[in-house]
Amino acid sequence: MKLPKRVTICEVGTRDGFQIEPDFIPTEAKIEVVNKLAATGMPRIEVTSFVSPKAVPQLKDAETVMAGITRRPGTRYSALVPNDKGAVRAVDAGVDDIHTVVSASESHNLANVNMSVAESLVKLTATAEVAHRAGKPVYSGISCSFGCPFEGDVPVAQLESVVARLVDMGATGIGLADTTGMANPAQVTRVLEHLMPRFAGVEWTLHTHDTRAMAIPNILAAMEMGVTHFDGSIGGLGGCPFAPGASGNVCTEDLVHCLSAMGVETGIDLDALIGVSKRVQEIVGRVLPGQIVKAGAWSRRYPLPDGVKERLAAR
Ligand code: COA
Ligand code: ZN
Repeated sequence: MKLPKRVTICEVGTRDGFQIEPDFIPTEAKIEVVNKLAATGMPRIEVTSFVSPKAVPQLKDAETVMAGITRRPGTRYSALVPNDKGAVRAVDAGVDDIHTVVSASESHNLANVNMSVAESLVKLTATAEVAHRAGKPVYSGISCSFGCPFEGDVPVAQLESVVARLVDMGATGIGLADTTGMANPAQVTRVLEHLMPRFAGVEWTLHTHDTRAMAIPNILAAMEMGVTHFDGSIGGLGGCPFAPGASGNVCTEDLVHCLSAMGVETGIDLDALIGVSKRVQEIVGRVLPGQIVKAGAWSRRYPLPDGVKERLAAR
């Protein structure tokens, strides 16, 4: 395999993950998780979102969370915003980076942010202006880049036209989001082969959901194409409240484990990350989909069963 030496992970569990939790997670617990994630060496954390509190009541405490965290040098703290109002709030709250959202599909964009794609792009132009005036880089995510749970196929030309508009607005990075886990590795390769040569200088991120167990295969396909930025969610938390069938993101510790087993660096302490995942399970009160928390790393060894040691020695 053609693998990069190093990849950059952005943890989105406290945003993409927590947003779908039905019971309100105390603000203190959110702050604790962000601080613990930073302490693992996590280079980027999407802390929360500045959206309508009516749309996502779970994240109505975005300002308080941002004000309560301890900033670790070496971690960049961002938040998701759907419009310029969100960008003003995020800038005031002191984020390092602004993450925006629009969908490649009309139906999902209407369901998610109550706007047509064209209306969203107008709002995102104003959003980028707010961010750039404040000196904040903009990373633009595109939901349903590889398929829509309502419309099905999203033609690559349709995706490309959204990317082009976001690049025109001065986006530093583009995040291709597989919102409901519809992408497969061959498709990821095809889409990247189409887009990457057309938009030189863009930092590409793959944002995966493991709804159909294809998240890590999709990430490997993107890595072979030269993509080095990936989102993940601690424990595999997550899902979009406005996309039926959406389940959690790729589990961050499972991804970090896979990368480290292959010798790809992330700068993240895997044991510490597993500790955070266990704590998050306590906070949400259930077992999360991550596998490594249960299985341990590939290097885990078990004692030999009774008698086997003697039989080995006798050979
Ligand atoms: N932060 C806080 N409040 C906001 C806001 C923001 N970023 N944007 C709009 N609002 C407020 C408005 O001020 C208005 O408040 P009021 O009712 O007290 O007057 C209300 O929300 C409605 O505003 P409007 O512009 O008419 O928006 P809308 O009702 O059409 O909703 C969004 C549009 C984008 C604000 C809303 O759909 C949203 O926040 N979606 C986020 C979805 C999301 O997070 N999805 C998961 C992540 S992908
Ligand atoms: Zn997502």
